Amino acid sequence: MTVYFIGAGPGDPELLTVKAQKLIAACPVILYAGSLVPCAVLEPAGDSAELVMDTSSMDLDQIIGEIRKADAAGRDVARLHSGDPSIYGAVAEQIRRLEVFGIDYEIIPGVTATSASAAWLGRELTLSGITQTVILTRYEGKTPFPERERLPALAATGATLAIHLGVPRIHRIVEELIPHYGEDCPVAVCYRTSWPDQERVSGTLGDIVGKVRARKFTRTALILVGRVLGSDGFCDSYLYDSSRAHVYRPKGSGARRQSVDSPTLHPPTRRRDPKA
Ligand SMILES: C[S@@+](CC[C@H](N)C(=O)[O-])C[C@H]1O[C@@H](n2cnc3c(N)ncnc32)[C@H](O)[C@@H]1O
Repeated sequence: MTVYFIGAGPGDPELLTVKAQKLIAACPVILYAGSLVPCAVLEPAGDSAELVMDTSSMDLDQIIGEIRKADAAGRDVARLHSGDPSIYGAVAEQIRRLEVFGIDYEIIPGVTATSASAAWLGRELTLSGITQTVILTRYEGKTPFPERERLPALAATGATLAIHLGVPRIHRIVEELIPHYGEDCPVAVCYRTSWPDQERVSGTLGDIVGKVRARKFTRTALILVGRVLGSDGFCDSYLYDSSRAHVYRPKGSGARRQSVDSPTLHPPTRRRDPKA
């Protein structure tokens, strides 16, 4: 018996990994965090699962109790968390208990809200000449927060920021960021990215608070901040720069169309051995 902690992605069931879909279809017990995981994600299970339970109103002991019941019956568990389980997933405390009870587990990664929101905005979060760093953080709430990671300290880096769980305090976030990024720094607030009712608002640190208040976003929104969201100030990367050689494009090789017959570092994957 195994507990599969599955990254259920940001909401759109088509953003589940193939592995996640297969496990949702195969596991007899499905426990999902219903506050952020929509029922549509459970569709691969069809009518085959024996138990499907929303854990959003349960505490840790109750969740572990359900897992132990499944363990006693020898049933695999699909434990669904929004986005990627490694980011604010609260999986560590579940894993700690599973280890005490000798229950096997595996983590299946998922598409995080940050990458889904960047995709929706049509933006890259790291750009040459602007920043090479993305910081995934949250705004301090009831959870203990290390002093060295408070927003002004992170903002001093100038990195692109993806701020989770912060939209109710966006006025304070803006106040703390303006001294570092400037009032004209672009901001995007993405609400329920990839859900059918997704909405987003773009602006600057100077005007975003009013715009967000007008849209009444109070939760499940990601705040992205950084010059990468604008359209100026960056330069092309070295990766495709014809004057820069690298291991996959040695000096003098030029931009050749890859032939299926020529020896290459990466043989074409489209070609199949007909006898295989
Ligand atoms: C507990 S964290 C979970 C993050 C998740 N594990 C991930 O990888 O994206 C919940 C916060 O993530 C952000 N979030 C999660 N899903 C989102 C979505 N579909 N659209 C926008 N923000 C989302 C919001 O800031 C929300 O308050």
